[in-house]
Amino acid sequence: MTITSIYEQYQIMPSLQLHMLRVAAVARVIALNTPGLGEVSEITAACLLHDMGNILKFKLDLFPDFLQPQGLEYWEGVKRDFVGKYGTDEHVATHEIARELNQPTRVMDLLSAIGFSKALENAVHSDTAKKICAYSDHRVTPFGVTSLEERMQEGRSRFALNKNTQEDPQKFEQLARGMQRIEQQIFSVCTIKPSDITDQLVNPVVEELREFEMNQKS
Ligand SMILES: [Fe+2]
Repeated sequence: MTITSIYEQYQIMPSLQLHMLRVAAVARVIALNTPGLGEVSEITAACLLHDMGNILKFKLDLFPDFLQPQGLEYWEGVKRDFVGKYGTDEHVATHEIARELNQPTRVMDLLSAIGFSKALENAVHSDTAKKICAYSDHRVTPFGVTSLEERMQEGRSRFALNKNTQEDPQKFEQLARGMQRIEQQIFSVCTIKPSDITDQLVNPVVEELREFEMNQKS
């Protein structure tokens, strides 16, 4: 089954599809340029699925442009169906969907490593594939590929705007430093540089990945 048919089956918003495709393309480029790593298809699969449940956390009326052509009501309906099936936690939903798709244990494992809150954990273990999955998510904004530094800056301003957050700014900086360490670790073994990863390099990979065949647990 291709990832595009899976996205259609789960009614994933086109903007979210593109995010996951870009993250997977970044991760794939890094993995293919890391000698001896292997696991390129597991890394790709985990990244292609990593935000499957995210409609649950979207405030749909804030981004009307992302809702076209179907419109707000349609996507509110999709979100209600997700809540009915998976509850309200997007991480739980993502894992449940990956299980429904019968993903191999290693893909499930890589999926669990993705998330800003895991940055410190990912900085201390020696699992390069997990580091690549988690890092690649932080090289992409809604507008395309960016540097880790810019992405962190964007995170900081979002953090400052969100007055309701219970999180503490020091924790954010700790995690951001963890992410920088992960970047150094990855590129100490990768044959390309962080600055080589650009939209120009990644976009053709995004197009190829639309036809990516998802393996299932045997
Ligand atoms: Fe993501």
